[in-house]
Amino acid sequence: VTLGVLASGSGSNLEAIAVAITNGDLLAQIAVVIYNEPNAFVRQRAEKFGIPAILINHRDYKSRQDLDRKIIEVLQQYQVELVIMAGWMRIVTQVLIDAFPDRILNIHPSLLPSFKGNHAIEQAYNYGVKITGCTVHLLSVEVDSGKILKQAAVPVLDSDRLEDLQTRIQVQEHIIYPQAIAEYMRTISK
Ligand code: GRF
Repeated sequence: VTLGVLASGSGSNLEAIAVAITNGDLLAQIAVVIYNEPNAFVRQRAEKFGIPAILINHRDYKSRQDLDRKIIEVLQQYQVELVIMAGWMRIVTQVLIDAFPDRILNIHPSLLPSFKGNHAIEQAYNYGVKITGCTVHLLSVEVDSGKILKQAAVPVLDSDRLEDLQTRIQVQEHIIYPQAIAEYMRTISK
Protein backbone atom coordinates (compact mmCIF):
# COMPACT_ATOMS: atom_id res chain seq x y z
CA VAL A 1 0.00 0.00 0.00
CA THR A 2 1.27 3.44 -0.91
CA LEU A 3 1.00 6.01 1.87
CA GLY A 4 1.04 9.80 1.77
CA VAL A 5 1.74 11.60 5.04
CA LEU A 6 0.46 15.08 5.91
CA ALA A 7 2.27 16.86 8.75
CA SER A 8 2.73 20.36 10.11
CA GLY A 9 5.29 20.00 12.86
CA SER A 10 8.02 17.81 14.24
CA GLY A 11 7.10 14.65 12.38
CA SER A 12 7.88 12.17 15.13
CA ASN A 13 4.90 10.08 14.01
CA LEU A 14 6.20 10.13 10.43
CA GLU A 15 9.48 8.82 11.78
CA ALA A 16 7.78 6.04 13.78
CA ILE A 17 5.88 4.93 10.66
CA ALA A 18 9.00 5.06 8.49
CA VAL A 19 10.91 2.99 11.06
CA ALA A 20 8.09 0.41 11.20
CA ILE A 21 8.34 0.13 7.41
CA THR A 22 12.13 -0.23 7.52
CA ASN A 23 11.81 -2.94 10.18
CA GLY A 24 9.28 -4.88 8.11
CA ASP A 25 6.49 -4.37 10.67
CA LEU A 26 4.42 -2.35 8.20
CA LEU A 27 4.21 -3.55 4.60
CA ALA A 28 3.82 -0.19 2.90
CA GLN A 29 5.82 2.61 1.42
CA ILE A 30 5.61 6.35 2.01
CA ALA A 31 5.52 7.99 -1.42
CA VAL A 32 5.37 11.60 -0.27
CA VAL A 33 5.22 13.86 2.77
CA ILE A 34 3.15 17.03 2.42
CA TYR A 35 3.81 19.79 4.94
CA ASN A 36 2.39 23.30 5.27
CA GLU A 37 4.79 25.09 7.61
CA PRO A 38 7.99 26.11 5.75
CA ASN A 39 10.20 25.50 8.78
CA ALA A 40 8.60 22.29 9.99
CA PHE A 41 11.17 19.75 11.23
CA VAL A 42 9.21 17.01 9.44
CA ARG A 43 10.95 18.04 6.22
CA GLN A 44 14.33 17.02 7.64
CA ARG A 45 12.94 13.72 8.90
CA ALA A 46 11.49 12.97 5.46
CA GLU A 47 14.84 13.74 3.83
CA LYS A 48 16.60 11.41 6.26
CA PHE A 49 14.41 8.56 4.97
CA GLY A 50 14.72 9.64 1.35
CA ILE A 51 11.04 10.53 1.11
CA PRO A 52 10.07 13.48 -1.12
CA ALA A 53 8.74 16.35 1.01
CA ILE A 54 6.43 18.81 -0.73
CA LEU A 55 5.62 22.17 0.83
CA ILE A 56 2.01 23.23 0.32
CA ASN A 57 1.76 26.47 2.24
CA HIS A 58 -1.89 27.07 3.19
CA ARG A 59 -1.21 30.83 3.11
CA ASP A 60 -0.97 30.60 -0.69
CA TYR A 61 -4.57 29.37 -1.06
CA LYS A 62 -7.66 31.48 -0.73
CA SER A 63 -9.90 28.81 0.75
CA ARG A 64 -9.63 25.50 2.60
CA GLN A 65 -11.17 23.85 -0.47
CA ASP A 66 -8.48 25.23 -2.76
CA LEU A 67 -5.81 23.99 -0.36
CA ASP A 68 -7.43 20.55 -0.32
CA ARG A 69 -7.58 20.47 -4.13
CA LYS A 70 -3.83 21.11 -4.30
CA ILE A 71 -3.22 18.37 -1.71
CA ILE A 72 -5.32 15.93 -3.77
CA GLU A 73 -3.35 16.81 -6.90
CA VAL A 74 -0.04 15.97 -5.20
CA LEU A 75 -1.37 12.81 -3.52
CA GLN A 76 -2.67 11.56 -6.87
CA GLN A 77 0.57 12.45 -8.60
CA TYR A 78 2.36 10.14 -6.13
CA GLN A 79 -0.36 7.47 -6.49
CA VAL A 80 -1.19 7.56 -2.80
CA GLU A 81 -3.76 4.99 -1.68
CA LEU A 82 -3.94 5.74 2.05
CA VAL A 83 -3.53 9.22 3.56
CA ILE A 84 -1.89 9.47 6.99
CA MET A 85 -2.40 12.67 8.97
CA ALA A 86 0.43 12.98 11.46
CA GLY A 87 0.03 16.28 13.22
CA TRP A 88 -1.62 18.05 10.26
CA MET A 89 -2.88 21.26 11.82
CA ARG A 90 -5.37 22.37 9.15
CA ILE A 91 -9.09 21.65 9.14
CA VAL A 92 -9.90 19.39 6.21
CA THR A 93 -12.96 19.85 3.98
CA GLN A 94 -15.35 17.47 2.27
CA VAL A 95 -13.30 17.98 -0.91
CA LEU A 96 -10.37 15.95 0.46
CA ILE A 97 -12.60 13.40 2.17
CA ASP A 98 -14.55 12.76 -1.07
CA ALA A 99 -11.29 12.16 -2.95
CA PHE A 100 -10.18 9.53 -0.39
CA PRO A 101 -13.34 8.08 1.19
CA ASP A 102 -12.46 5.95 4.25
CA ARG A 103 -8.82 6.30 3.26
CA ILE A 104 -7.66 9.08 5.59
CA LEU A 105 -6.37 8.28 9.08
CA ASN A 106 -5.58 10.71 11.87
CA ILE A 107 -3.99 10.49 15.30
CA HIS A 108 -5.25 12.56 18.21
CA PRO A 109 -3.60 12.89 21.63
CA SER A 110 -6.57 12.00 23.86
CA LEU A 111 -8.99 9.16 24.42
CA LEU A 112 -11.72 10.38 22.06
CA PRO A 113 -14.47 11.46 22.37
CA SER A 114 -12.91 13.30 25.31
CA PHE A 115 -10.82 16.41 24.65
CA LYS A 116 -11.27 17.06 20.94
CA GLY A 117 -9.45 19.93 19.28
CA ASN A 118 -6.02 21.49 19.33
CA HIS A 119 -5.24 21.54 23.04
CA ALA A 120 -6.18 18.02 24.04
CA ILE A 121 -3.22 17.19 26.26
CA GLU A 122 -3.32 20.49 28.11
CA GLN A 123 -7.08 20.21 28.61
CA ALA A 124 -6.85 16.66 29.96
CA TYR A 125 -4.00 17.74 32.24
CA ASN A 126 -5.87 20.78 33.54
CA TYR A 127 -9.08 18.81 33.99
CA GLY A 128 -7.20 16.44 36.27
CA VAL A 129 -8.07 13.14 34.60
CA LYS A 130 -6.01 10.20 35.85
CA ILE A 131 -6.05 8.37 32.53
CA THR A 132 -5.81 9.84 29.07
CA GLY A 133 -4.18 8.50 25.92
CA CYS A 134 -4.25 8.66 22.15
CA THR A 135 -6.61 7.64 19.37
CA VAL A 136 -6.18 6.63 15.74
CA HIS A 137 -9.38 7.30 13.82
CA LEU A 138 -10.77 7.72 10.34
CA LEU A 139 -11.11 11.31 9.27
CA SER A 140 -14.54 12.87 9.01
CA VAL A 141 -15.53 16.46 8.34
CA GLU A 142 -16.49 16.98 11.95
CA VAL A 143 -13.14 17.39 13.71
CA ASP A 144 -11.83 14.41 15.74
CA SER A 145 -15.08 12.47 15.29
CA GLY A 146 -14.52 9.69 12.74
CA LYS A 147 -14.64 5.97 13.44
CA ILE A 148 -12.12 4.92 16.08
CA LEU A 149 -9.57 2.36 14.89
CA LYS A 150 -7.23 2.03 17.88
CA GLN A 151 -6.57 3.62 21.26
CA ALA A 152 -3.91 3.44 23.95
CA ALA A 153 -4.48 4.49 27.55
CA VAL A 154 -1.83 6.56 29.31
CA PRO A 155 -1.79 7.24 33.07
CA VAL A 156 -1.40 10.77 34.41
CA LEU A 157 0.93 10.77 37.41
CA ASP A 158 0.58 13.25 40.25
CA SER A 159 4.18 14.30 39.70
CA ASP A 160 3.67 14.98 35.97
CA ARG A 161 4.44 18.28 34.40
CA LEU A 162 2.54 18.90 31.17
CA GLU A 163 5.66 17.96 29.16
CA ASP A 164 5.99 14.64 30.99
CA LEU A 165 2.46 13.70 30.05
CA GLN A 166 3.02 14.83 26.48
CA THR A 167 6.10 12.63 26.19
CA ARG A 168 4.28 9.60 27.65
CA ILE A 169 1.42 10.04 25.17
CA GLN A 170 3.79 10.40 22.22
CA VAL A 171 5.55 7.15 23.11
CA GLN A 172 2.18 5.40 22.77
CA GLU A 173 1.34 7.25 19.55
CA HIS A 174 4.50 5.94 17.97
CA ILE A 175 3.51 2.39 18.94
CA ILE A 176 -0.16 2.39 17.96
CA TYR A 177 -0.07 4.44 14.75
CA PRO A 178 2.02 1.97 12.71
CA GLN A 179 -0.02 -0.91 14.19
CA ALA A 180 -3.33 0.76 13.38
CA ILE A 181 -2.20 1.41 9.80
CA ALA A 182 -1.16 -2.23 9.37
CA GLU A 183 -4.45 -3.48 10.84
CA TYR A 184 -6.54 -1.09 8.75
CA MET A 185 -4.69 -2.09 5.58
CA ARG A 186 -5.66 -5.69 6.27
CA THR A 187 -9.36 -4.80 6.64
CA ILE A 188 -9.47 -2.82 3.39
CA SER A 189 -7.58 -5.38 1.31
CA LYS A 190 -10.14 -8.11 2.10
C1 GRF B 1 0.80 14.38 17.87
O1 GRF B 1 0.77 14.54 19.27
C2 GRF B 1 -0.58 14.12 17.35
O2 GRF B 1 -1.39 13.44 18.25
C3 GRF B 1 -1.11 15.50 17.12
O3 GRF B 1 -0.02 16.24 16.67
C4 GRF B 1 1.17 15.68 17.19
C5 GRF B 1 2.13 15.45 16.05
O4 GRF B 1 3.42 15.20 16.48
N1 GRF B 1 -2.24 15.45 16.21
P1 GRF B 1 4.57 14.85 15.44
O5 GRF B 1 4.64 15.99 14.44
O6 GRF B 1 4.22 13.55 14.77
O7 GRF B 1 5.82 14.75 16.24
